[in-house]
Amino acid sequence: MASGSASARSPQVQDENPSCNDVASFKAADTVVQQCESRKPKPESENLSFGTVFTDHMLLIEWSSEGGWEKPRIQPFGNLSLHPACSALHYAVQLFEGMKAYRGQDDRVRLFRPMLNMERMLKSAHRACLPSFDGAEFLECIRKLVELDQDWVSRSDSASLYIRPTFLGTESSLGVKKASRALLFVILSPVGSYFSTASNSVSLWADSKYIRAWKGGTGDCKLGANYGACILAQDEAVGFGCQQVLWLYGDDHQITEVGTMNLFLYWINQDGEEELATPPLDGIILPGITRQSILELARKWGEFKVSERYLTMADLRVALEEERLKEMFGSGTACVVSRVGRVLYQGQSLQIPCVAESNSLTSRLLKELTDIQDVPNGRIGHARCLCNGSDGFSLLFSASKRPAFSPIDSSLVFMLVYPL
Ligand SMILES: Cc1ncc(COP(=O)(O)O)c(C=O)c1O
Repeated sequence: MASGSASARSPQVQDENPSCNDVASFKAADTVVQQCESRKPKPESENLSFGTVFTDHMLLIEWSSEGGWEKPRIQPFGNLSLHPACSALHYAVQLFEGMKAYRGQDDRVRLFRPMLNMERMLKSAHRACLPSFDGAEFLECIRKLVELDQDWVSRSDSASLYIRPTFLGTESSLGVKKASRALLFVILSPVGSYFSTASNSVSLWADSKYIRAWKGGTGDCKLGANYGACILAQDEAVGFGCQQVLWLYGDDHQITEVGTMNLFLYWINQDGEEELATPPLDGIILPGITRQSILELARKWGEFKVSERYLTMADLRVALEEERLKEMFGSGTACVVSRVGRVLYQGQSLQIPCVAESNSLTSRLLKELTDIQDVPNGRIGHARCLCNGSDGFSLLFSASKRPAFSPIDSSLVFMLVYPL
């Protein structure tokens, strides 16, 4: 793995969760590997539906309050054995992360800004009262797993390997309390494109009937309970001919986020300024890593105003009436960037403008992000520098030459690179 200098326990996480400081953790070097006897056949990367096929191995790490963390184990993929009173099953003491491994044109496999996933996972663990661990050690365990199953990382441009770190409370009693046992595990699934739509845009159902998250709740953490509670609304959205729910908040119907995406408006705002706007992280929105990357990219470009601000459905409607809305799109690991084509709101189908593919900000961001995911080989051919930085990303855009150093030796943290 390319070594990284950033702490896997961000200052923010440390402040919020003092137990993360000098936390007792498992060590990746202790990982015990048991390889499977025969490898499964790999699926065709076309027509892969999300999260249905899994690789040959999985990673498991158990914890108990008496014994602390056990040694990480990589073993053949298989069912878990859980006590029927397990707290994850009864009280949804569970959280997860979602990240992808990409194969570049140089045949190397990379992860995109994985330290941010580790930070978010530790924040979720704190919220679920699950034990802390060293994110850098966990990432190294994940790297070992991906390395073992690297043949599952497709060579197709449109496919990648989805990584699902998961954390369960495995307390084996029915009392509602902090879990004294826990299981951290990781499974891998080859995936294709997330949304199957010919027009390459998503339709959203915006209704205030259901609420995804509220201040003081858990909407800014990646707890499974947040998602299970959304399935009914998602089902209704499909019944209305839409693909996803656009979650609204408050009496003024603030726009918050979409099923598994953060949301952006690119428009001429009320003051006549060209602006890329997304709702602020006020506790009810998941702090997306793609969202953060888009904000950093757009701010670096400096071509238009970039804001984290409240947006309401009334703002959207007026902007559409006054023809000020240029584009609307969602962002997330699964889809990277996905254009919104239509919003169904109060019985009205709001058609979102569609800029020609070649000129759209959505396409530009998609290209920039996927090119970055393929650095340092072919796809980014100019003006990119990978060097020291809190996680490398913010300095991507400052150089006028291609990097002179080998990415494997550099202090890249935002991507882990290893040769095949
Ligand atoms: C509710 C929600 N919002 C936003 C996102 C996007 O986050 P990221 O860009 O880190 O994938 C996700 C995906 O994880 C999500 O589940």
